[in-house]
Amino acid sequence: MSKTAACPIVTIDGPSGSGKGTISRALARKLGWHLLDSGALYRLVALAGSTAGLARDDVSGHAALARRMGASFKVGPDGGERITLDAQEVTSAIRSEEAGQGASRVAAWPAVREALLARQRAFAEPPGLVADGRDMGTVVFPAADLKIFLTATPRERALRRHKQLKDKGSDVSLPALSREIAERDLRDQTREVAPLKAAPDACVIDSTALSVEAVVQRVLELGAARRLWP
Ligand code: C5P
Repeated sequence: MSKTAACPIVTIDGPSGSGKGTISRALARKLGWHLLDSGALYRLVALAGSTAGLARDDVSGHAALARRMGASFKVGPDGGERITLDAQEVTSAIRSEEAGQGASRVAAWPAVREALLARQRAFAEPPGLVADGRDMGTVVFPAADLKIFLTATPRERALRRHKQLKDKGSDVSLPALSREIAERDLRDQTREVAPLKAAPDACVIDSTALSVEAVVQRVLELGAARRLWP
């Protein structure tokens, strides 16, 4: 979490559907750096809680799971992500909108956020880290070398999530999805601990009218200007 040459850190924060995941993955691949998908960790905590039969409001139970759950992030032979929770394959299970809602509920609890801090910081390993989330530049890696805050209009974000879910075979109506995203954004922005907001030193990129390649290019230019890469 420091401005060291050994492990440079780029943080990419923003609301749901702003393209953080896609951009972070593309950037990490391009640079050969590690990737932290912090949202997946919150999704795993919510899933672990429901698998263990915890009450929805059991804060300390969820915090204990956040500390001890076995989470692994790997790239499969086809190049796709493979996520396991205590050795169970959960790659697609954690991507549902329901899992996102569960994640946003447990993410509002300070004890859960605290329990995930060390786990997230452990991802910072040479040659570098791209960290994707809501509080990467504000709380988890405040000394990151480059901080990006990615936005897009609510309509564009809902359309992107809709397409993503549809491609995965999930049939959610666009109006319902727009409502759920608005609800999740509001909860993420108004919670007391680590609310979703741009760090004062973040570079804001509005991706509404930009392709993935154009956003990655912009981030590469910003990093090059800071001499993070050639
Ligand atoms: O990014 P993703 O949609 O997977 O995140 C799911 C939820 O996890 C978010 O809506 C947010 O509530 C929570 N989250 C968070 N802090 C992060 C990443 C995700 O609170 N760094």
